[in-house]
Amino acid sequence: MRILGIETSCDETGIAIYDDEAGLLGHQLHSQIDIHKAYGGVVPELASRDHIRRCLPMIHDLLEATRTTPSQLDAIAFTEGPGLIGALLVGASIARSLGYAWGIPSIGIHHMEGHLLAAELTESPPPYPMVALLVSGGHTQLMASEKPGDYQLLGESVDDAAGEAFDKAAKMLGLGYPGGPEIARLAESGRSDRFSFPRPMTKKPGLDFSFSGLKTHTRLTIESLGTMTDQDKADIARAFQDAVVETIVIKCERAILETGHADLVMAGGVSANLELRRALKVFGEQHHVNIHYPDLKFCTDNGAMIAVAGLMRQKEWSRDQWRIDARARWPMTDLSPINDAEAT
Ligand code: KG4
Ligand code: ZN
Repeated sequence: MRILGIETSCDETGIAIYDDEAGLLGHQLHSQIDIHKAYGGVVPELASRDHIRRCLPMIHDLLEATRTTPSQLDAIAFTEGPGLIGALLVGASIARSLGYAWGIPSIGIHHMEGHLLAAELTESPPPYPMVALLVSGGHTQLMASEKPGDYQLLGESVDDAAGEAFDKAAKMLGLGYPGGPEIARLAESGRSDRFSFPRPMTKKPGLDFSFSGLKTHTRLTIESLGTMTDQDKADIARAFQDAVVETIVIKCERAILETGHADLVMAGGVSANLELRRALKVFGEQHHVNIHYPDLKFCTDNGAMIAVAGLMRQKEWSRDQWRIDARARWPMTDLSPINDAEAT
């Protein structure tokens, strides 16, 4: 079985071809950072237009690079949501139209499930049951998952997502977009003992997160300094990152205690953060929890995760679904367990 994956939910066009026997045949990624950086964040209309420009030529190139003809494809998977509605509609329209033209089924994939299933691309995919930590630009959630596709929400952010908090803190420090990698880079030369930032919502019980207070704390710290030296910025970046990482680890520990699961998978753009990976590894070693994460290149948005999720949801491939659907919001808990569904 061979599947084409199309990701267009935000500011990256990701295309991939995945084969259930040969694995990932190839993937291409086009980042729109250059388009949006002047604005300090994603401009939705510019994102949609760029996806329109990139998507078909990238599919064409990837078919050629992997020596795949459309007749060798068994299905097309695309990101149906959640995300920017215009950007999603580009991928959905192209996937449904190509499916129609090539006479193959297409399937809409949940973006965050795609992030989680990117861990299937590693050499030892995580076992179930597991705790899933989903940390991206739009989401911060802890889920319990008994089996693939079955998700129970344990806790989530009541305001900003972790990635969003990184992006906003970076903007305040005058760093580029996306802010996560910029903060992480700067934090390397920052001192950990200069500022102490709060660990929000860790003093009371519960698995929810809140990052907006941390944002305010960052702003107030910056204002108290007046003009900032490079070392000031690095120290703030370090304090901010330490606070986010420690907060996430504390919540992960609670999720593990609550579920009794021995495996934790982290996914989404923020899972590319090396400090978070390191801290979770230490936590895992101390508590006998196996920590899993996708390869670095598949932590942020990509087409491979959508292709893999599409293949796993094979039973839901549809030959008579031509409606072009996209969902800006889509709770992951609404998904049906994988393999339970009947083909249409
Ligand atoms: O999953 P993703 O690529 O897109 C969404 O689905 O949102 O995540 C993007 C987010 C951005 O907020 C970005 O700043 C953050 O992930 N990010 C990071 C790192 N790399 C990306 N945050 C912290 N450390 C990183 N190394
Ligand atoms: Zn994402």
